[in-house]
Amino acid sequence: MRMVDVIRKKRDGQELTKDEIDFFIKGYVEGQIPDYQVSALLMAIFYKGMNDRETADLTFAIRDSGERLDFSNVNGIRVDKHSTGGVGDKTSLVVAPIVASLGVKVAKMSGRGLGHTGGTIDKLEAIPGFNTEIEEKKFIDIVNDIGICIVGQSKELAPADKKLYALRDVTSTVDSLPLIVSSIMGKKLAADDDCIVLDVKSGSGALCKTVEESKKLAKSMVDIGNRAGKAMRALITDMDRPLGNAIGNSLEVIEAVKTLKGEGPKDLEDLCVILATNMLSLAKVGTYDECKLKVKEAIANGSAFDTFVKMVEAQGGDSSFIKDVSKFSVAPYTKEVKADKEGFICQVDTEKYGMASVILGAGRNRKEDNIDYSAGIMLNKKTGDYVYPGDVIATLYTSNESSLAEANNMLLLSTKICKEPPIVRPLVLGIVQ
Ligand code: URA
Repeated sequence: MRMVDVIRKKRDGQELTKDEIDFFIKGYVEGQIPDYQVSALLMAIFYKGMNDRETADLTFAIRDSGERLDFSNVNGIRVDKHSTGGVGDKTSLVVAPIVASLGVKVAKMSGRGLGHTGGTIDKLEAIPGFNTEIEEKKFIDIVNDIGICIVGQSKELAPADKKLYALRDVTSTVDSLPLIVSSIMGKKLAADDDCIVLDVKSGSGALCKTVEESKKLAKSMVDIGNRAGKAMRALITDMDRPLGNAIGNSLEVIEAVKTLKGEGPKDLEDLCVILATNMLSLAKVGTYDECKLKVKEAIANGSAFDTFVKMVEAQGGDSSFIKDVSKFSVAPYTKEVKADKEGFICQVDTEKYGMASVILGAGRNRKEDNIDYSAGIMLNKKTGDYVYPGDVIATLYTSNESSLAEANNMLLLSTKICKEPPIVRPLVLGIVQ
């Protein structure tokens, strides 16, 4: 088989066989097929797409490109939640301890920030001492012991995705449905969970800007998960506005801790309750309403917060920061972003809000960049709020004073103020199962 023929076939809009897909993934991981040929194939896939069978074969080839985890030594049912990426999305930090405190195991592999979106691993590493690289046996022991452990993806898990993702990032081929589906599900299926709840974000801060696109993505991921024998459910959720009020790593940890104690912003708490309830009901812990009650109790009686503290301690983190969040250091430079006219905040470009937080130091421009954990944005006003000139819309935090002006302008340009109140979308825009 020759790679040039595989590229030509897809360029001409034909369907690739399983053998052709396996050939290109294996050859790429083993270094026999160069980046330039894979780039050409990715662009052909971007334009010509893939049918369901090809997408499933690509997913399984990515899953099988490296080691697969074996969670058979975990006692009890394992459930995972995966978000397609958003701004201010710290739900994993809240829902995973809630679910674990109710007896369902969360053996979770998470990612780092990507472009304008944040990542759970970067957020957890904002807690001093927190270790996200734990070998498999210890990982399983922690899950058996306290019900939860969250680590980064090991080098051996789905290595094809690592190489492909880096190439997609620099060849403008990230936002292709079969490539997103196979990337996310290839990794998820290499882990060994029984149930997966997908949080497919939709809107200006998400990979998919429209609900139709998000539903298509959700349906494809659910179908592939089902084919692999997993119980699957996908929620399409709003990302036309940031989630909660905090964007940036330690700011988000603080907000997650408040939410675990029942003191978080309403949109974040509501979405966490919905996601945790879906994880429990998919794991057949009870009816939807029974699960929802349990989730609310776990927040109210402190057991979800206690589980988070135990996880931090088991993973080497300093839990005194969680018990007293004022210990997190505050960035040395701050700036208030002020409204320049009167009216309702009717629309925000959420992706730009995420980019502004990256400019402040909360994310990376290049893979090797260091993160400023204290950098980010606290929102005082959100879509639907009424503002007067001079009202503070947000406060910026950074260790790099020169980034403040650019982030300030970006936020102002991305915040539309109108005379009429906007229609604020519900948090959940659809369910696919
Ligand atoms: N997250 C992933 O892991 N892969 C994608 O392609 C998009 C989001």
